[in-house]
Amino acid sequence: MTIQRIGVVGAGQMGNGIAHVCALAGYEVRLSDISRAQLEHALETIEANLSRQVARGLIKDEDREKAMRLITTETGMESFKEVDLAIEAVTEDEQTKRKVFIELCPKLNSTAYLATNTSSISVTRLAAATDRPERFIGLHFMNPVPVMKLVELIRGIATSEETYQMANEVAKKLGKVAANSEDFPAFIVNRILLPMINEAVYTLYEGVGTVEAIDTAMRLGANHPMGPLQLADFIGLDTCLSIMQVLYEGLADSKYRPCPLLVKYVEAGWLGRKAERGFYDYRGETPVPTR
Ligand SMILES: NC(=O)c1ccc[n+]([C@@H]2O[C@H](COP(=O)([O-])OP(=O)(O)OC[C@H]3O[C@@H](n4cnc5c(N)ncnc54)[C@H](O)[C@@H]3O)[C@@H](O)[C@H]2O)c1
Repeated sequence: MTIQRIGVVGAGQMGNGIAHVCALAGYEVRLSDISRAQLEHALETIEANLSRQVARGLIKDEDREKAMRLITTETGMESFKEVDLAIEAVTEDEQTKRKVFIELCPKLNSTAYLATNTSSISVTRLAAATDRPERFIGLHFMNPVPVMKLVELIRGIATSEETYQMANEVAKKLGKVAANSEDFPAFIVNRILLPMINEAVYTLYEGVGTVEAIDTAMRLGANHPMGPLQLADFIGLDTCLSIMQVLYEGLADSKYRPCPLLVKYVEAGWLGRKAERGFYDYRGETPVPTR
């Protein structure tokens, strides 16, 4: 089956990036979110990011216009009956994702594939909450989607070979490089990355260094392009906390215990860049450390 139309549920940081790369690759895109404001914000972001690619000479102005024409938005999922592949990119919370699948599955064509962009949750367990575990797969994009080359492909226990081949082909058409990961908590990238970020938050919590010192140390001392706290803000602190909770519960090892300071930031609603405040305050001209 050739994929022509792709539905994306969730128009946050990841959903807008996924819609962007799919439209640029020529797929018709249906983008859905419960929040009308998020959909409007997503379209603005996509337009701005495509324009940046035009300015850099990566794509032509016609490509930008064509991609924008291929994207339609809706607060429901009514037009998802027409999609060949639906990609779920809602908040990293198992109950939220389950609710989305319950609403989404009856609307999909029986031949449609379903993918999740989860960063950490068991693909096998999410698949079991749908009516099509064999047509279900983990398609884990990296942030920012238009820039980052990697996609992790995660097969659940029931994922068919055909579904895996379909995901591989879509990844290739999007210009991404696929890496296979087994279905274990947080897969490969986040299994390695998130404990480092959590350790950076502990380093802050214990007063070993300030936000600025920790980020400078890792940028200049380990040659990381971004400091770990800046990266945490970029990912979203709620997402970071959810991933640590999945690692902690899924692997039952105290080394994955989420730092209490990370919990506190999430409780405050200081979720990082998307909330304009996290380990840095982004409301002014330049980011200012909040500790
Ligand atoms: N942030 C990252 O760096 C990153 C990287 C890879 C994967 N992911 C994963 O992508 C997913 C989304 O993350 P994000 O960073 O885009 O989060 P986000 O907070 O920016 O966006 C989540 C979106 O989901 C929407 N939403 C919530 N409940 C919904 C529902 N019932 N129906 C429709 N929409 C709903 C929200 O309105 C919001 O727009 C998560 O599973 C996350 O783990 C995130």
